[in-house]
Amino acid sequence: MWDKLAERAEEVADRPLLDLMGPERARDFSVEALGMLFDYAKTNIDNSTRDMLLGMAEAAELPARRDAMFAGRKINETEGRAVLHTALRNLDGHPVTVDGQDVMPEVLDTLARMEEFAQSVRDGGFAGQGGAIMDVVNIGIGGSDLGPAMAYQALGPYADGPRCHFVSNVDGAHVHDILAPLDPATTLVIVASKTFTTIETMTNAETAKAWMAEKVPDPAAQFAALSTAADRTAAFGIDEARVFGFADWVGGRYSMWGPIGLSLMIAVGPADFRAVLKGAAEMDDHFRTADPLRNMPVMLALVGIWHNQGCGYATRAVLPYEQRLARLPAYLQQLEMESNGKRVDMEGADLPTHSGPVVWGEPGTNGQHAFYQLIHQGTRVVPCEFMVGREGHEPELAHQHRLLIANCVAQAEALLRGRSFEEARASVADAFDGAELDRQARHRVFPGNRPSTMLVYDRLTPRVLGQIVALYEHRVFVEGAILGINSFDQWGVELGKELAKALDPVLSGKAGVEGKDASTARLVGWIRRDPD
Ligand code: F6P
Repeated sequence: MWDKLAERAEEVADRPLLDLMGPERARDFSVEALGMLFDYAKTNIDNSTRDMLLGMAEAAELPARRDAMFAGRKINETEGRAVLHTALRNLDGHPVTVDGQDVMPEVLDTLARMEEFAQSVRDGGFAGQGGAIMDVVNIGIGGSDLGPAMAYQALGPYADGPRCHFVSNVDGAHVHDILAPLDPATTLVIVASKTFTTIETMTNAETAKAWMAEKVPDPAAQFAALSTAADRTAAFGIDEARVFGFADWVGGRYSMWGPIGLSLMIAVGPADFRAVLKGAAEMDDHFRTADPLRNMPVMLALVGIWHNQGCGYATRAVLPYEQRLARLPAYLQQLEMESNGKRVDMEGADLPTHSGPVVWGEPGTNGQHAFYQLIHQGTRVVPCEFMVGREGHEPELAHQHRLLIANCVAQAEALLRGRSFEEARASVADAFDGAELDRQARHRVFPGNRPSTMLVYDRLTPRVLGQIVALYEHRVFVEGAILGINSFDQWGVELGKELAKALDPVLSGKAGVEGKDASTARLVGWIRRDPD
């Protein structure tokens, strides 16, 4: 099946995408759902390729796999866990069972406790030892950081609570620079860690506790914890009234919908947080019920499979024309690369094709003035995923938003169309002639024929944000299902963690470099300033 897909990609590789653009194509090769439009007409997918891709989804028994996830079956087989982040946004509370037990009462109870706490932080019912909470510091990393940090920035216009700050890196500069301007007496520190063992988070949490202890008599009273490990949060000294737990079936990178979203909830308020959940639940329903051809996550995934495993494009750029989505590419990096960066299938057999792509990006228009040069004229093709809202939140700056949209649409058009040698020549014919004209023209040629997709939404409201993030979650699920991999474990992060733990005493001089390769040993010696 993978060979056939690659063969198909090779067969059609050189045809002009513009030749595919019949009058019906824009409608036929797009999906409208939940007030959003996903356009994939500017790709090299035609009817027969699309049928092939849909056939792959069918062969992977996608509906059955999807239903198994929603039903709480233990599809994360290497960890023996269900995958139920969707239960966190199941606001109507219809039963979802794991091991024969309905998980919804506990989910809804935790949500209600979070809401009560968030509201009391917002209205001063819960105060610091120096007065109302003015600043919230979320200490977490990976999934315990990227989701709330991304969403907090995305929902800036809705943030009317205390300011939120996010500390993730074990680099002391991060925690130092975030804490330095804050007043410990009016700061709430949230330690967000599913396991409550992650070295970066626990180290930063201890640093924050010491910082708090310098100024307030009872530092632990201004700490809250978000974790599955109640014993460890208690050992850290955090009162269980401020511990918000969740089950092991919430993967770190899928966790912003539950307790890990507490900082966001404090910032925007419980109602707007619920709107985020509602949007995600709408996307869940759409994913569960829409036909594959009209199913946005399915089609987004099939385009991804086509570009990565079919055409062999190793990366994809996510390009939100929305400054407030500046952290979305980083969020998606974890979501997609930790989920689908796997080299073996469910059975442990080598994958017969490539794992998921490298995901990267920056908001437009900034990226245009940095790396788009390579996207337009470099020798490698980078499929681009554009996204833009019809409206911004600043009506007084509507002209700027129009310019933003114009740039977004123009970039997709430029990638498609390109600029021929003749056109390039004509554009500089006034300035040069003869051989110099040809030489100058060659530098100005755009090959075009470069694929892109575009997602258009109305406005980046809490609900739309929920829809977009859930869209990408399900996209990752579909790609993983077609690859036959486990998208829900992350063993690839372990080795580096183990080696770092072992290197700490080596760096402090308590242990030697025996057993290390020559390069590592010399690096450590050089850093330790050992005599050569
Ligand atoms: O090391 C990777 C990872 O386990 C991620 O999957 C996770 O989001 C992150 O670390 C943080 O983990 P925790 O929430 O347990 O601190």
